[in-house]
Amino acid sequence: MKPRQTDFLSELASPAGSSETLTEGAVLLRGFALAEAQALVHAIEEIGAQAPFRHLVTPGGYRMSVAMTNCGRTGWVSDESGYRYDAVDLGSGTPWPPMPGLFVQLAAAAAREGGFPDYDPDACLINRYEPGSKLSLHKDKDEHDPIAPIVSVSLGLPAVFLWGGLRRADRPHRIRLESGDVVVWGGPARFIYHGVAPLAEGDHPLTGACRLNLTFRKVW
Ligand code: SIN
Ligand code: FE2
Repeated sequence: MKPRQTDFLSELASPAGSSETLTEGAVLLRGFALAEAQALVHAIEEIGAQAPFRHLVTPGGYRMSVAMTNCGRTGWVSDESGYRYDAVDLGSGTPWPPMPGLFVQLAAAAAREGGFPDYDPDACLINRYEPGSKLSLHKDKDEHDPIAPIVSVSLGLPAVFLWGGLRRADRPHRIRLESGDVVVWGGPARFIYHGVAPLAEGDHPLTGACRLNLTFRKVW
């Protein structure tokens, strides 16, 4: 599949199966996870039954509007003492549920498509957005591997993904992400600022009134 440079002229979705280069090291794979979407949602429900979604508190004391859980060898957490990875779900005191094989295979296939062969993620943060939930501009910098990509899978309600630059002040582009879309960013794009605009109300056959997102990471 030959990537084409996206023009950001509109939020119109390009056809499933297409691949757009966002910036060097970052690609948007339209519909890449569509075939597995139902199975992914089912697996997320099982993970959520073991490690419930919760609204983490930022080091500054704010309750995040996105509800989160994790699977994998380690999981991303936040509280008053800071952002970090922890092998244990502090809610239960037990390790995070293992990453299902389907997750690993999908993440590795998407990474390969994005130019990152041999991707072996050890963490998967699972985000649940209700209408109004948002993720402010940030870069993912708590991982020790500075090259391996973040692989982000969208499920359910559409969202507006904010894709900025290497500086927080860089004005972000707005990209509409649909269920099944996958974004991969690593190498020179690994520390690009990104976020998610407040989720609009809606009802999706797969997830009802919410959006689910998986972000795979190589932490160690
Ligand atoms: C994230 O940046 O961790 C999540 C991105 C998304 O929900 O699309
Ligand atoms: Fe992120």
